[in-house]
Amino acid sequence: MIDTPDEPVPAGELVLSLRGVSKNFGAVSALTDIDLDVHAGEVVALVGDNGAGKSTLVKILAGVHQPSSGTINYRGQQVTLADPSAALTLGIATVFQDLALCENLDIVANIFLGRELNPLRLDEVAMEVRAWTLLNELSARIP
Ligand SMILES: Nc1ncnc2c1ncn2[C@@H]1O[C@H](COP(=O)(O)OP(=O)(O)O)[C@@H](O)[C@H]1O
Ligand SMILES: [Mg+2]
Repeated sequence: MIDTPDEPVPAGELVLSLRGVSKNFGAVSALTDIDLDVHAGEVVALVGDNGAGKSTLVKILAGVHQPSSGTINYRGQQVTLADPSAALTLGIATVFQDLALCENLDIVANIFLGRELNPLRLDEVAMEVRAWTLLNELSARIP
């Protein structure tokens, strides 16, 4: 595991670099020899037909799937994204297509799901304040 900076990565710096990433599901080759560079401050869109492998690539970056071969570098160091928390530690967060909200939890609990503040003794007030601030920033109107 490598240290992640508290400060934002300077704009233009190479953050994420994939080389020769392939992923097989049994006989299905979902990804073949993918190279991808992502620089700080850059917005990258991944476009392709249904079944092209977009979700598989994102799941590899999110630590959900392991590549069958190839390497992933984060700021020049090779990393293994063994699980979603390893990806999160590097600042790789994912919003999935199916929103996967927990309907038995309230808005604040859903926003902080899996990354609760002070998880041993939940800081509910701080989470409510941050959720409220965030929703205001997004101009989200929730009854
Ligand atoms: N968990 C899985 N098991 C087996 N095959 C899968 C799995 N996930 C994806 N695939 C296959 O990998 C290929 C790429 O799928 P996917 O990444 O979902 O494409 P996209 O998101 O671009 O539509 C497809 O052929 C799909 O059927
Ligand atoms: Mg998809």
